Amino acid sequence: MKTVKIVMLMILLVVAGCSSGSDDTGPQVGGPSDDIDPGGSDDDNPDNDDDDVPVVGPFVYDATEDLKNVASFPIGNIVSASKLASTSTANTTFKQILNTEYNSITAENDMKMANMFTGPDTYDFSDGDAIVAYAKENGHRVHGHALIWHQSIPNWLNNFTGTDEEFEAQVEGYVKATVAHFAEAEDDDGNPIVASWDVVNEYFDGSSVRSSLFTQRIGNDFHEKAFQWAREADPDVKLFYNDYNIAGQVDKRNAIISMVNNFITNSIPIDGIGMQMHLNHDWPSSDLPLSIQAISDTGLLVHISELDVKVNYGDDITELTEERAAAQEFQYQRAGYYYTSIVPLAQQFGLTLWGFRDQDSWLYDGGSDWPLLYDNDFNTKISHRGLVAGLNEENPE
Ligand code: XIL
Repeated sequence: MKTVKIVMLMILLVVAGCSSGSDDTGPQVGGPSDDIDPGGSDDDNPDNDDDDVPVVGPFVYDATEDLKNVASFPIGNIVSASKLASTSTANTTFKQILNTEYNSITAENDMKMANMFTGPDTYDFSDGDAIVAYAKENGHRVHGHALIWHQSIPNWLNNFTGTDEEFEAQVEGYVKATVAHFAEAEDDDGNPIVASWDVVNEYFDGSSVRSSLFTQRIGNDFHEKAFQWAREADPDVKLFYNDYNIAGQVDKRNAIISMVNNFITNSIPIDGIGMQMHLNHDWPSSDLPLSIQAISDTGLLVHISELDVKVNYGDDITELTEERAAAQEFQYQRAGYYYTSIVPLAQQFGLTLWGFRDQDSWLYDGGSDWPLLYDNDFNTKISHRGLVAGLNEENPE
């Protein structure tokens, strides 16, 4: 993990030497673009970790501190049942890092509706069960993601020909059965392994309610019903609302905060807010701490639930440059620092990264972005150093 081939190093140095250092990025709107095909790769490429050359390149560094040991809250990353089951060289390295640096896991896709809700009143929990079993064996918490999301609907439900009442009964049955099923898993001390669920993901589109199959078939209050169904199925599991651009889009954030306040006024159960945090190297700027403060002020738990930092949002570079790598390090430090220093300890649910190697990222886009903490050989990038510094409460600005 801390070594790299000489050839690789030379390439990196040459590339760094050639980088233009341009900062002509212009104003940017952040967040995931709808036309990205995220495609969650599950590849088993062997890594190249076969010599002992110290890492001195501009993009990677020799890490001495593990993320979970510097944080005052759980540090998470994403998994799939297939990667956890794999014994390839790359996936063995992945699991070593997972167990060393992290103590919380989220299923990247396996615990979404499209994977588990296989037919009317029919569920397949096998992938989630494998993830829970791995968590139990290796001391991880599991964050359930996500019960209702407009982008993860099984085909049969999309094409459901029953009445709206029958549609709602199917969704209600799914939410209750899923939450009840995963509530059964306990560690050796009798504590639940699945601590929490993202009950509704991305209800808002900007500051408006997103039109989806669920608003059309159930109504704009489907989200309130979903939280109530989840609570009925498990009185203890933490229930989260999760969304992107909560940092960076003030109107959207305000709409979410109003929703949460309405929930609280009307006794609709909710325990926390997941800020996805798909950031760019230069976005958001001042709104990052402001957003964390505003979400924290709701008094609910705060989860940074899907952290990654794009460095090529404008598609203006063809290789990672030193300037962008440094900007990314800074942005990761800001995320870690503001979360740690702003959110009161009792509300710190945790910080979850959305992937390991750059090539594993849903934003890799065929090799044209480098959003994560490890390069394609699992070396720790300087972005990792930034996050460690932030978690250590070193103020980056
Ligand atoms: C993404 C996964 O990373 C991809 O593999 C999949 O193809 C699509 O979903 N917001 C979310 C996550 O809440 O579930 C998404 O994960 C990324 C955006």
